[in-house]
Amino acid sequence: MRISAQDLDPEQTYKLMTGLVVPRPIAWITSTSAEGLVNLAPFSCFTIVSNKPPMLGVNIGRKAGVRKDTALNITGNGEFVVNVAHEDFVSEVHLSAVEHPPQVSEPALLGLALAPSSIVQTPRLADAPASLECRLHSITPYGDTGAEFFVGEVVAFHVRDALIQDGKVDSGALRPLARLGGPHYAGLGTIVRQQSIAQTPKSILRPEER
Ligand SMILES: Cc1cc2nc3c(=O)[nH]c(=O)nc-3n(C[C@H](O)[C@H](O)[C@H](O)COP(=O)(O)O)c2cc1C
Repeated sequence: MRISAQDLDPEQTYKLMTGLVVPRPIAWITSTSAEGLVNLAPFSCFTIVSNKPPMLGVNIGRKAGVRKDTALNITGNGEFVVNVAHEDFVSEVHLSAVEHPPQVSEPALLGLALAPSSIVQTPRLADAPASLECRLHSITPYGDTGAEFFVGEVVAFHVRDALIQDGKVDSGALRPLARLGGPHYAGLGTIVRQQSIAQTPKSILRPEER
């Protein structure tokens, strides 16, 4: 089937793209409102942007043309925390996307404990396997629906001791939750190890790659 991009409306495009660009990691973001309330919401349009300094990017859309609470909060105080969503929290992750008025704190509503961050004022989720404290670096608008790509510089990493050795994270033990299309989620499934690229024998490479 060939689908012409220009024949699709934004909703159809969203469904197609979020069904095809899978699995997506979930940034479970805590942010703080001007009134000091901690907001929590999941965002799967999420990726690494740089490693020196460490930077992450999250695409935040609008609701009926209005910035979501997370976007408003980050714009207001220039900080947020990306918590890694663990497989065991699938229902809490899903429910934290329910739209609430800004005076509702999702962690309190869902019974999720908070822990202080070390540099930013916004707390992290105490039971997340890892949390990344971020300071806002830039906001770049894309497209016609008001979506904005928020880039944050990571100023501190929190990783459970058992998950990291020699600076390497045990992804299997991390058990991150991934988003698929619609209300579908997945775990990591089978992890397959390959030889590191640096150790790959040159004989299997094409002549121009040797
Ligand atoms: C798993 C999951 C991933 C999501 N990813 C995104 C995303 O990348 N960008 C976005 O704008 N909304 C995303 N949403 C929707 C937001 O979480 C939802 O609009 C939420 O109400 C925003 O909360 P806030 O107004 O408190 O910021 C996602 C929802 C779920 C369940």
